[in-house]
Amino acid sequence: MARSACGFSVALLGALLLGTAHLPHGTEASEISLPHGSGITVRIRLANPALPVKPCHIVMSRQPITELLVKPGERKSFTFNCINPEKHFVLEIEKNIDCMSGPCPFGEVRLQPSTSELPTLNRTFIWDVRAHKSIGLELQFSTPRLRQIGPGERCADGVTHSISGRIDATEVRIGTFCSNGTVSRIKMQEGVKMALHVPWNIPRNISGFSIANRSSIKRLCIIESVFEGEGSATLMSANYPGGFPEDELMTWQFVVPEHLRASVSFLNFNVSNCERKEERVEYYIPGSTTNPEVFRLEDKQPGNMAGNFNLSLQGCDQDAQSPGILRLQFQVLVQRPQNESNKTYVVDLSQERTMSLTIEPRPVKHGRRFVPGCFVCLESRTCSTNVTLTAGTKHKISFLCDDLTRLWVNAEKTLSCLDYYYCYKKSFHLQVPKDILQLPVQLHDFSWKLLVPKDRLGLMLVPGQKLQQHTRERACNTSLGYVIASTTPGQDLYFGSFCPGGSIEKIQVKQNSSVTLRTYAPSSQQEVSRQGLTVSFIPYFKEEGIFTVTPDTKNKVYLRTPSWDRGLPALSSVSWNISVPSNQVACLTFFKERSGVVCQSGRAYMIIQEQQTRAEEVFSLEEEVLPKPSFHHHSFWVNISNCSPMNGKQLDLLFWVTLTPRTVDLAVIIGAAGGGALLLFALGLIICFVRKKKKINKGPAVGIYNGNVNTQIPQIQNFQKRRKDNDSHVYAVIDDTMVYGHLLQDSGGSFIQPEVDTYRPFQGPMGDCPPSPPPVFSRTPTAKFTADEPAPNSPPESESEPYTFSHPNKGEVGVRETDIPLLNIQGPVETEE
Ligand SMILES: *[C@@H]1O[C@H](CO)[C@@H](O)[C@H](O)[C@H]1NC(C)=O
Ligand SMILES: *[C@@H]1O[C@H](CO)[C@@H](O)[C@H](O)[C@H]1NC(C)=O
Ligand SMILES: *[C@@H]1O[C@H](CO)[C@@H](O)[C@H](O)[C@H]1NC(C)=O
Ligand SMILES: *[C@@H]1O[C@H](CO)[C@@H](O)[C@H](O)[C@H]1NC(C)=O
Ligand SMILES: *[C@@H]1O[C@H](CO)[C@@H](O)[C@H](O)[C@H]1NC(C)=O
Ligand SMILES: *[C@@H]1O[C@H](CO)[C@@H](O)[C@H](O)[C@H]1NC(C)=O
Ligand SMILES: *[C@@H]1O[C@H](CO)[C@@H](O)[C@H](O)[C@H]1NC(C)=O
Ligand SMILES: *[C@@H]1O[C@H](CO)[C@@H](O)[C@H](O)[C@H]1NC(C)=O
Ligand SMILES: *[C@@H]1O[C@H](CO)[C@@H](O)[C@H](O)[C@H]1NC(C)=O
Ligand SMILES: *[C@@H]1O[C@H](CO)[C@@H](O)[C@H](O)[C@H]1NC(C)=O
Ligand SMILES: *[C@@H]1O[C@H](CO)[C@@H](O)[C@H](O)[C@H]1NC(C)=O
Ligand SMILES: *[C@@H]1O[C@H](CO)[C@@H](O)[C@H](O)[C@H]1NC(C)=O
Repeated sequence: MARSACGFSVALLGALLLGTAHLPHGTEASEISLPHGSGITVRIRLANPALPVKPCHIVMSRQPITELLVKPGERKSFTFNCINPEKHFVLEIEKNIDCMSGPCPFGEVRLQPSTSELPTLNRTFIWDVRAHKSIGLELQFSTPRLRQIGPGERCADGVTHSISGRIDATEVRIGTFCSNGTVSRIKMQEGVKMALHVPWNIPRNISGFSIANRSSIKRLCIIESVFEGEGSATLMSANYPGGFPEDELMTWQFVVPEHLRASVSFLNFNVSNCERKEERVEYYIPGSTTNPEVFRLEDKQPGNMAGNFNLSLQGCDQDAQSPGILRLQFQVLVQRPQNESNKTYVVDLSQERTMSLTIEPRPVKHGRRFVPGCFVCLESRTCSTNVTLTAGTKHKISFLCDDLTRLWVNAEKTLSCLDYYYCYKKSFHLQVPKDILQLPVQLHDFSWKLLVPKDRLGLMLVPGQKLQQHTRERACNTSLGYVIASTTPGQDLYFGSFCPGGSIEKIQVKQNSSVTLRTYAPSSQQEVSRQGLTVSFIPYFKEEGIFTVTPDTKNKVYLRTPSWDRGLPALSSVSWNISVPSNQVACLTFFKERSGVVCQSGRAYMIIQEQQTRAEEVFSLEEEVLPKPSFHHHSFWVNISNCSPMNGKQLDLLFWVTLTPRTVDLAVIIGAAGGGALLLFALGLIICFVRKKKKINKGPAVGIYNGNVNTQIPQIQNFQKRRKDNDSHVYAVIDDTMVYGHLLQDSGGSFIQPEVDTYRPFQGPMGDCPPSPPPVFSRTPTAKFTADEPAPNSPPESESEPYTFSHPNKGEVGVRETDIPLLNIQGPVETEE
């Protein structure tokens, strides 16, 4: 405990004291002598003046008296005329300390006169300190500290401390305390009166406290409690059980070891009738973002707080007619954290070099609702709300948190392979370490930063389970997924978010990228452990990304261009390698009628190429409508290349692929459709040639399937890459939508997938693959429409707008290979290349 530097004045006072003759218990004579200017008066009086005093008197100068007063500068000798005066008389030693007129004797307070010189009666030492309103007075108690007792309670040893303060002329009782508690300091203003009651048989010769001056505390008082281990303290408002002074403020401070938790409960309280302001309690709680936390007295009070906190009681302006009464008795319980919180987890990062892990609070808006502290402790000692574990060390952590779902883990690991010869064809398995999965906290993000040498190597990501791209049309409903984005500075390229259980077999990316395993539900730890993704360093290629898609017959595969919500970055190109099994036919459908892109410079176009025949169609995305649903018998490529679009006229395309069994013989269709079908073929051929003639000058073909050429079209090469919204980094956008995803979790714990991208309402017509050939005079001059596919056996599942064509060929038809006519028709297109 700190001692005041002003101890000299105490010593001075001590020197002023005269000695008193030591006279023992009983009938022996006593002498009390008080020096001038000591400010001390001693009074011996009957403990209970109402009772008959026959058996015992004070005898002074042979006169029996019932009360004796010794003032400063006096010396008095006396005896008692009975053998047990302690049963009848009590001793009061009062010392006035006036800090208004002179220097205040701060420091350790001594018992004066020394107890050995006083008759053995119950004695009460009273120190009455008066100070200016602006001066804070602090009473500091040495161990054992004080324990407040309520009305009717007694201290085991009978030693009590009664402390009161003053508001103007009115005395305010702060409380009565025993000597085995937690109260270490009491700060008051304007003056303090301390009465130490010591029973006659207790050989106490020290006061046990000191006084220090402090700056103004601007309230009635502050009571500090220190907990060194588990324990509890019951505390009361001033004047308890009487009313708390009107419009006053009183504060309790609590010092609690970091590894323990404190909970507050109100045992008894009453509120008065407020005319102005509200009676309330306010907390400062470590880790809370909304301090001070304000509660009504009726509220459930906070629990499970880790670390020091304080609590203030604020009164109000009471109704003069019927003020009511504000009072509060409460308990602070400090104990070891319950449940899981006392477990220690080891996270061994000693073998890691480039990995770091942060356990941090989820960004949740709590409003002003109370939230108890939630801490992560290293070695059970240093606790913090946000802990970062670094590579190269073994970490021992534990949690002090009422609700571990308030935390999550984010980890990052860099895999850098920048030496071409070393890295070429190397591959790594991306998997979340076991130590992280055993933590009782949800893994939110595990992000691998993959670095490759520029223009030398690319990356191939092969997931353990095929992936589905998250789209509005088919939202990922799994509890985890991958988020893939380019990390090249200044390149706003976000490939999308993907979840297991789809048709995407691999994703190739050209540049430094991040692959982030993200979970959306807390219960996905086992699922995380089952995930894996292999990254290989492969030869460099031109596109920003290549998706290898192998659809299955059961599901539509929805695919969309990267950076969906902001539009495909300027001058970038993406390809999809879409496999069609030999006994299936794929239908490729675009969501919109037009791409909507407006180029500032360069051209935006799309190429659809049959892999087997290399037959290719090129669409200008700026001018033409997007192709109507088209059928593909063989694996094909879709390549989309962007221009430098105008702001707000970005390129974003959504398309889907469905598979249907190849069951219909073309001859049957021709038969069924009669000469009309022949006409269609003829028209198709014509259109095909027309189309070929008006083919845009797209420059050399783009893409991996024609890798010997440049991705960029000659005429747009001169334009600077430029994005207006360069400062909006890709993660900012991802996080905004993902971070609050868990808030969508419903009460049953089931998971609602957050929408990742902005949904652009579709304006154009919608339809699925037509069950019968569309009119050949379609505006889209593609070769394939002329040789369209016969109706599948069952109509594809319909989109929001049902397709209205009739189904003339719905009946059973023979199965025969239909490839040849298509090839025949496409042939010319290809040779025209
Ligand atoms: C002396 O103090 C004890 C303990 O507080 C109390 O029980 C007792 O009644 C007191 N005696 C007198 C005479 O007041
Ligand atoms: C102080 O002593 C009393 C009586 O022995 C006991 O009930 C109480 O728990 C003790 N308080 C503390 C804080 O040790
Ligand atoms: C108080 O009494 C103890 C023994 O009971 C003694 O050791 C100590 O010196 C005394 N202190 C004072 C200030 O008299
Ligand atoms: C305490 O008192 C001393 C002298 O009385 C004064 O110099 C000092 O500033 C005071 N400290 C505070 C905190 O008021
Ligand atoms: C204090 O509140 C209790 C209920 O909490 C009530 O029973 C009691 O009457 C109130 N006392 C006063 C003086 O208002
Ligand atoms: C209460 O705690 C807060 C935060 O630790 C502190 O800023 C404030 O001064 C404390 N108030 C009192 C009266 O102790
Ligand atoms: C953790 O606490 C539980 C009950 O609170 C107790 O049974 C268990 O032994 C404690 N474990 C450790 C490691 O302290
Ligand atoms: C936690 O600390 C890390 C590293 O200092 C910081 O990036 C992150 O924003 C912090 N999280 C919160 C919720 O404060
Ligand atoms: C411990 O767990 C039980 C049930 O899960 C819960 O009711 C209680 O509040 C928990 N206690 C703490 C301190 O977290
Ligand atoms: C990837 O990052 C590394 C290190 O920052 C850099 O040397 C390399 O050129 C980058 N690669 C690409 C493709 O930008
Ligand atoms: C997720 O969606 C698929 C279809 O898209 C459905 O078959 C599956 O039952 C869904 N799973 C959950 C958990 O909702
Ligand atoms: C396209 O995908 C198929 C099926 O996965 C694969 O066999 C083929 O090699 C891929 N083509 C290229 C150029 O990657």
